Order: sequence, then structure tokens, then C-alpha cells
Amino acid sequence: MEKNKFNLHLNFHPFPVLHTRRLLLRPVGIKDAQRLYALRSSPLVLKYIQKKPLQNIKEARAMIKMIEHNWFENKAILWVIALKEEPEMMIGNITFWRIDAEHKRAELGYILSPDYWQQGIMQEAAKPVIEYGFKKMNLHGIEAHINPENKGSEHLLQKMGFQKEAHFTENYYYESKFYDSAIYCLQNPG
Ligand SMILES: CC(C)(COP(=O)(O)OP(=O)(O)OC[C@H]1O[C@@H](n2cnc3c(N)ncnc32)[C@H](O)[C@@H]1OP(=O)(O)O)[C@@H](O)C(=O)NCCC(=O)NCCS
Repeated sequence: MEKNKFNLHLNFHPFPVLHTRRLLLRPVGIKDAQRLYALRSSPLVLKYIQKKPLQNIKEARAMIKMIEHNWFENKAILWVIALKEEPEMMIGNITFWRIDAEHKRAELGYILSPDYWQQGIMQEAAKPVIEYGFKKMNLHGIEAHINPENKGSEHLLQKMGFQKEAHFTENYYYESKFYDSAIYCLQNPG
């Protein structure tokens, strides 16, 4: 293989399980379907994510299959967030998706069940995930695309050192309405 310090390392096998003080970050499985359905159909969780809610468990299972397929193909990676004392119960998830191999970038996405908001959980999960993105995947930059009204997401990104690099006016169309979006970026410090 061509030697280049900028080469991406896109190999998610074996799955990189991550640990933090309170959390276990593990792969998704079909047993997570009920929790995924609850998360991805909650109007509170989806308030600033303009995407169609999951309609039933069958759709959650199909989403899990797609996540597993993308992981298998090294196209994306998603970590289920669970508390260490309840490793089976998904309380949220965090992912690198839309991986742009040519330009060594990936997009970070995350959702958390409202019962766990504002307890520093996503900050705790994002830290080792970002470290994995820079140190193991060798990403040059990580992006997050958010609805600018999503103050929770904005604060989280600022806390993690992301800079706001763009604001697009009404560039996102969903169900007969145009939404603004903001792009936040973090560069590999290495
Ligand atoms: C965005 C989200 C992941 C934040 O998770 P979280 O675990 O509550 O975030 P943290 O507790 O780690 O908080 C990180 C920082 O943001 C702040 N913050 C979190 N939610 C906030 C809110 N709603 N309003 C203002 N600040 C908020 C926290 O106070 C913290 O700052 P601090 O350390 O100075 O106190 C969570 O609210 C969520 O899942 N929302 C629904 C899904 C979603 O919108 N995902 C993002 C799509 S782009």
C-alpha cells in the first residue's frame, strides 16, 4: 500500500469497543431494536433532526441491518451508548458516517434518550470516539451538521472544541419546509 501520512485507516474489524468512566460504547445488535425504535420515534429526540420518525420495530430492525452492513463494509461505524451497569440497554448512540475517504473527513452524529440529557453523557461518549477518529482512523477533520436552533448540540460541539464554519440559510428541505443548517468542524490536532 502507498505510504502516506494522510492515508485513512478504514478498518472497523474487530469492532472497537470503547470504555469511559460511566459508559460502555459497543456495537449495535438486533436486540437493540426496541430501544432504537423508541429513540428514533420520539418527537423530543427528533425535534431538531428533520428526518422521518421510525414507524415500527420492523423499521428499527431494518435500520440495524443497514448499520451492521455499513460497519461490515467499513463505510460507517456506530457505537451504542450504554451505562456500564446496564450494558444491554442502549441509552443513545454515536456514529461516524458520510465518511469522505478522498478528503479524510467524516461526519459525527449522536442521539441520546431524554432521560439522560444534561448529565455530561454525550461529552463523555464523544471524547473517545473523536480520539478514535483522529488516532485510529487518521481523519483530518470531523464535521457535524446541525439545526442551528439545536442549542444542546451546539453547546456539546463547542465544549468538544468544534468551530462553527458555515451557516446555510434554508438549505434543508423536509416536509414542506426549508430549514437552516450549521456546520461545525474539528481539525486533527496531531
Ligand atoms: C444534543 C445531545 C446529544 C446532548 O447530549 P447531553 O448528554 O445532554 O450533552 P452533555 O450533557 O454532554 O452536555 C454538553 C454541554 O452542552 C450543554 N447542553 C446540553 N444540552 C443543552 C441544552 N438543551 N441547552 C443548553 N445547553 C445544553 C451542557 O450543559 C454541557 O455544557 P457544560 O459542560 O458547560 O454544562 C442531546 O440533547 C440529544 O440527544 N438531543 C436529541 C438528539 C439530537 O439533537 N442530536 C444531535 C443532532 S445534530
